[in-house]
Amino acid sequence: MDREAMLNRAWDRNAARWTRTVRDGLIPSRRAGTDEAVVAAIAARNPRRLLDVGCGEGWLVRRLCRDVDCTALGIDGSASLIEDARSADPNNSYEVASYADLIGGQTRLAGGFDVAVFNYALFDEQVDRVLAAVAALLARGGVIVVQTLHPWALSQTETYGDGWRIEDFSAFDGEEWEPMPWFFRTLESWHATIRAAGLTVVDLLEPKSPVDSRPLSLIMVCKAVTD
Ligand SMILES: C[S@@+](CC[C@H](N)C(=O)[O-])C[C@H]1O[C@@H](n2cnc3c(N)ncnc32)[C@H](O)[C@@H]1O
Repeated sequence: MDREAMLNRAWDRNAARWTRTVRDGLIPSRRAGTDEAVVAAIAARNPRRLLDVGCGEGWLVRRLCRDVDCTALGIDGSASLIEDARSADPNNSYEVASYADLIGGQTRLAGGFDVAVFNYALFDEQVDRVLAAVAALLARGGVIVVQTLHPWALSQTETYGDGWRIEDFSAFDGEEWEPMPWFFRTLESWHATIRAAGLTVVDLLEPKSPVDSRPLSLIMVCKAVTD
């Protein structure tokens, strides 16, 4: 099985555990500030239309539409997570769609989004094509917000370089999670990937831990080079 298939299988199998983990607030970095940071980065753009790519069980759509007067669409490759998102939120739209569908133009989404967000949802080695496909759905002046693991998050013993890793979710709880392959990227590599997608970084944020000031995540706000 290739890594993309393993990744998709992991999200299908982990769907119920993931929904419970997010909704019970069991991810320490999210409680410490990454949720608030991505909400603030999006709200600062005052979007009227929001696209949440890899929306999972939909918390960010629900939260944004509570705080900002906007309509939102969440898309995700996992049918179970989309079902969870729909049943928690009758006011917004959620659709099953993979990034391959987006790249292949099979989603027939109406464009015109002021903000599209990938919140911890880019795990593949090649992500420039999905970023470019989503950029094509933006309104003029629209942005893509990417929140991801901070490149400093590697342990001291690991080599600082691009490469595949395995997330075993052991930090969350004692349940049986399906391990997920994910591609670690250095800061330089993120920058090159964003450029390859025809985008440029207009804001770069590093939400910090209130305890030790270490970065909790990396947030990049990107717009089309041609805008
Ligand atoms: C870590 S979860 C984050 C979910 C949500 N953004 C959040 O903040 O809770 C990653 C999500 O990305 C989705 N995803 C990852 N790769 C995908 C792909 N190639 N196509 C569609 N969805 C994908 C997964 O199904 C999963 O719901």
